[in-house]
Amino acid sequence: MPEPTLQTQTPDQQEPAWVDRELDSLHENSDKHEKVRAMFNAIARSYDINNRLHSLWRDEAWRKRAVLEARVQPGEAVLDCACGTGDLTQAFARFSKADHIVGSDYTPNMLEIARHKREKLHEQLKARIEYQQADAQQLPFEDESFDVVAIAFGIRNVQDPDKAMREFHRVLRPGGRLMILEFGQPSFPPMRWFNNFYCGSIMPRTATWIARDTSGAYKYLPRSVTSFKTRDEMHQSYTEAGFQEVWSKPLTLGICNLFRGIRP
Ligand SMILES: C[S@@+](CC[C@H](N)C(=O)[O-])C[C@H]1O[C@@H](n2cnc3c(N)ncnc32)[C@H](O)[C@@H]1O
Repeated sequence: MPEPTLQTQTPDQQEPAWVDRELDSLHENSDKHEKVRAMFNAIARSYDINNRLHSLWRDEAWRKRAVLEARVQPGEAVLDCACGTGDLTQAFARFSKADHIVGSDYTPNMLEIARHKREKLHEQLKARIEYQQADAQQLPFEDESFDVVAIAFGIRNVQDPDKAMREFHRVLRPGGRLMILEFGQPSFPPMRWFNNFYCGSIMPRTATWIARDTSGAYKYLPRSVTSFKTRDEMHQSYTEAGFQEVWSKPLTLGICNLFRGIRP
């Protein structure tokens, strides 16, 4: 893939990536790959602040938990796929003894911010992080080159998530762990009702306003969560991709789920 270039359009110059009627079947949309990239290009600059505010800073705790459950050993190599602005990549540098952490994403503006944030880190953290533009469904890495592959809030956005999971299996060494963080739906009915109301009616308005977004990103977000794979279906995807010892844990009453599987 060519090196990323920063898209110069401001959010209010962007064409909508999604129109309302497309959101009913967004995972089946054959243009999802390009639409998702256009959307993240549009919201990249305000992505972090929207994440913090709308998760009440829980997103940082969820990523830290993913790093700890990956059980990284000193000297191991980690791939943070669909790394976006690099928060999970940085969490691996801070909270694990990984030797080398590669953050990869296919959206230039998200990677641009990740690289900018890397420059501000202490030298010891910075030296262990590298960013690369790549499509999760076609990774430019050798077979068996990582000990951990992680993807946070990314798998739902990939055009063909099962193809990406087969790629993750390919680039992991035997014994390697695939960590997935993804939004879910709380099983406790009042919490589920509140979460649906918050994500469906409040967050799309406030996040769109903060991002000055016209791409439709924050209408897409709740619809993409409720129509994505359930926790059981994610377990099945892990197994079909060849992973074993599949484990998952609901976080914050199931607003988010953390998954782990081992490549035999
Ligand atoms: C919700 S953001 C998550 C970013 C980051 N992992 C985090 O924890 O904040 C989803 C990311 O997935 C990326 N993405 C979606 N489809 C992708 C693909 N096929 N290949 C690589 N990245 C992809 C988007 O560019 C975006 O940066």
